[in-house]
Amino acid sequence: MSGHLDIKGVSRRFKLTTVLDDLSLSMGKGEFLSLLGPSGCGKTTLLRILAGLLAPDRGSVTLAGRDMGRLPPHKRDVGVVFQNYALFPHLTVAENVAFGLKARGKPKAEIAEAVTRLLAMVQLGHLADRAIPQLSGGQQQRVAMARALAVNPQLILLDEPLSALDRKLRESMQVELRRLLRELGMTAIFVTHDQEEALALSDRIAVMNAGRIEQLATPEEIYARPATPFVLDFVGQSTAFHGVVERNEAGRLAISTDFGLLHGPGQFAPRSRVLLAVRPDRITPGAIPGKGWTGLTLPIAAQTFLGGRRLLHGAVGPGDRAIVELPADAPLPGGTLPIAWREADTLVFPAGSGA
Ligand SMILES: Nc1ncnc2c1ncn2[C@@H]1O[C@H](COP(=O)(O)OP(=O)(O)OP(=O)(O)O)[C@@H](O)[C@H]1O
Ligand SMILES: [Mg+2]
Repeated sequence: MSGHLDIKGVSRRFKLTTVLDDLSLSMGKGEFLSLLGPSGCGKTTLLRILAGLLAPDRGSVTLAGRDMGRLPPHKRDVGVVFQNYALFPHLTVAENVAFGLKARGKPKAEIAEAVTRLLAMVQLGHLADRAIPQLSGGQQQRVAMARALAVNPQLILLDEPLSALDRKLRESMQVELRRLLRELGMTAIFVTHDQEEALALSDRIAVMNAGRIEQLATPEEIYARPATPFVLDFVGQSTAFHGVVERNEAGRLAISTDFGLLHGPGQFAPRSRVLLAVRPDRITPGAIPGKGWTGLTLPIAAQTFLGGRRLLHGAVGPGDRAIVELPADAPLPGGTLPIAWREADTLVFPAGSGA
């Protein structure tokens, strides 16, 4: 299958460290994809390769039917907003945004209209004539975004473009950015550390770990059906116990844990060591498991108040974790709380693969 953007088998090493490891990824036109992963996993390195600022050791990149292999950055039709945004300090805000359009010889009226529209989008219309050194970091980042979008590139790369903004501005920019990119039919790769941002904005999320993609799927799939313990742990919260499979009855597992026998679907042989997990929104606090349900009585170690809800942390063994969500006004349980969930909502992974 070939898409608007095709990354095939891209690898890159720095000295002895493999930073990107045989990474492949295809995107459709107009798709918004987030790269989500811990610091150092290779997100910026991948974007630099796509922008033409760094050559891969192996692999190929095709964008809109063109092989990017030998193309220098300015011939790629790729817009970039990097962590360390580089604006032209001697130009005003409006001149920075107009820069690419001027370089392409667009008519004056068209440039003026585009600049006004883009500055309104990033909420900087009132600062059009400001000099760049007189802007805050967050404002500079927004100018960089408007400038990258102005030339209507085939692909836009956004490396944590909202990370310098305070929470309120960040949330309104998220919504605006998403709307604008959709309107423009823009294909975008968005790098973030922030899983909520990735879940809220993306058509698909690529969860990266150590130079590889662990899972590439919709936000809903990533959350409900994490492919690996790493994805389970990196995106969203979860309750997770280590255990040993006692029985496998036609795909219904009975798993022995510190909290007794728990049930869930999977294909593991008896005596396999597994990690059993469940998302907090699947757990019914206070419930005793009936048919098709599984559960346990959880000793409570601590609770945290989060405004609209309360989190209870279970007292569990080393390497395990237990989180239960309660409405903020629910009565606080004493020392223990029974919890239950549907067996079908139990996630079972092979143990010892990273979490
Ligand atoms: N030019 C370079 N020379 C040597 N090592 C490099 C170079 N560029 C990146 N690295 C290393 O490659 C790894 C990946 O770096 P990269 O910047 O891609 O991470 P990242 O996922 O963007 O992290 P962050 O979320 O912190 O921005 C890091 O270990 C980094 O130190
Ligand atoms: Mg980075």
